[in-house]
Amino acid sequence: MMIISHDRDLLDNAVDQILSLEARKLTLYRGGYSDFERMRGERMVLDQKLIKKQEAQRKHLQAFVDRFRAKATKARQAQSRVKMLAKMQPINALVMDEVRPIHFPAPEKLLSPPIIATDDVAVGYEPGRPVLAGLSLRIDNDDRIALLGSNGNGKSTFVKLLAGRLAPEHGTVTRAAMLKVGYFAQHQLDELDEERSPYDHVRDLMLDAPEAKVRGRAGALGFSGLTANNAVKTLSGGEKSRLLLGLATFAAPHLIILDEPTNHLDIDSRAALIEAVNDFPGAVILVSHDRYLLEACADRLWLVQGGKVTPFDGDLDDYRRAVLAGESQGITVGSKSSARPDPVQARRAAADKRAETAPLRKRISQAEVVIAQLTRQLHKLDATLADGTLFASDPARAADLSKTRANVVAAIQKAEEEWLAASAALESA
Ligand SMILES: Nc1ncnc2c1ncn2[C@@H]1O[C@H](COP(=O)(O)OP(=O)(O)OP(=O)(O)O)[C@@H](O)[C@H]1O
Ligand SMILES: [Mg+2]
Repeated sequence: MMIISHDRDLLDNAVDQILSLEARKLTLYRGGYSDFERMRGERMVLDQKLIKKQEAQRKHLQAFVDRFRAKATKARQAQSRVKMLAKMQPINALVMDEVRPIHFPAPEKLLSPPIIATDDVAVGYEPGRPVLAGLSLRIDNDDRIALLGSNGNGKSTFVKLLAGRLAPEHGTVTRAAMLKVGYFAQHQLDELDEERSPYDHVRDLMLDAPEAKVRGRAGALGFSGLTANNAVKTLSGGEKSRLLLGLATFAAPHLIILDEPTNHLDIDSRAALIEAVNDFPGAVILVSHDRYLLEACADRLWLVQGGKVTPFDGDLDDYRRAVLAGESQGITVGSKSSARPDPVQARRAAADKRAETAPLRKRISQAEVVIAQLTRQLHKLDATLADGTLFASDPARAADLSKTRANVVAAIQKAEEEWLAASAALESA
């Protein structure tokens, strides 16, 4: 069997050889995608340019780590994220020079949360026959939510509701004032005008801007110079997807909704998409069957199933196991029962729980403070040590600072372990 695919998870699990077509040469690698990536990476590390590139990627990664430290609420997901970080470095190193980065413009200012709240909403296509019902959910400024669920369960329906493309049949949807939503969906590829160019499409969004400015924006979307003038019908699937991603996020939205964004993107472009999502400071809702993308980007998982959308308490491995084990019985979501508890009792129980877990939360926030302080100290030390003349002019001080630096690094590691341990304890509580 021969498979042509951009899905690294599939390639890792289904093939034992990879034939790579690069620079008009075919090279055979033994193993799955990860092996291929490692071997190709080893060959390329020799390249000096790549080392520089890696440095830039590491910065991205650092921003990602910082964000994760500040935000992660579920130790389980935190842990799979740590694993993910370890895995991510090689793929980032392999983002080729010719792969243009993807960038989502940051919203001008954050809105007061929640940015969207739904209250007992039902939504569907025919009156009286909702696809989803009883939706009471909220979305905050920097949420990264992945929607899970089998084909036809209503993921696209749900995001159309959030994007304002479908009106609720019942209940209310409250949006923060001035909220801008960027909505990308695969079927919108048909909405691009085949005869017109990327330049024309960008022009439509900035009618009064001078030519040079429009060209600049088109260039930022990956269509620089004359390529901006080619008719959309001559673009590849991946190029069309990039154009559409650029147009959908053009207005610097507070919330970006991506409904299966990767279908036409190759593996390097997917890595670029992951970077774009992780660099974006607003909220992101992702629908994708690409496990790698979800692991790299999502902080929270919501399950779309049985006409409902419910937070899923676990990571993607748990989800896979649940799907394999219990498709017919329906997946048990978290520990909450679906019956509505008495509100007074529920509040009291929640208060008890909060009191009980307060020491843990304190440990977590203390660890976060320590990590932040030490990280600042580390940056300062690095800045001083980066001055090359120090080693010549004052070797004793330079050696001293290096020693301090090693201690700071060790202390950061310890604080991170403390953070993870406390988070894990909080979760099991
Ligand atoms: N335009 C439409 N008119 C009527 N029914 C629709 C329409 N779009 C979707 N549906 C129905 O709504 C249900 C949910 O579809 P939806 O597209 O939201 O699923 P999904 O979870 O996004 O699936 P997939 O993983 O295949 O993209 C399906 O039963 C589908 O037949
Ligand atoms: Mg869909």
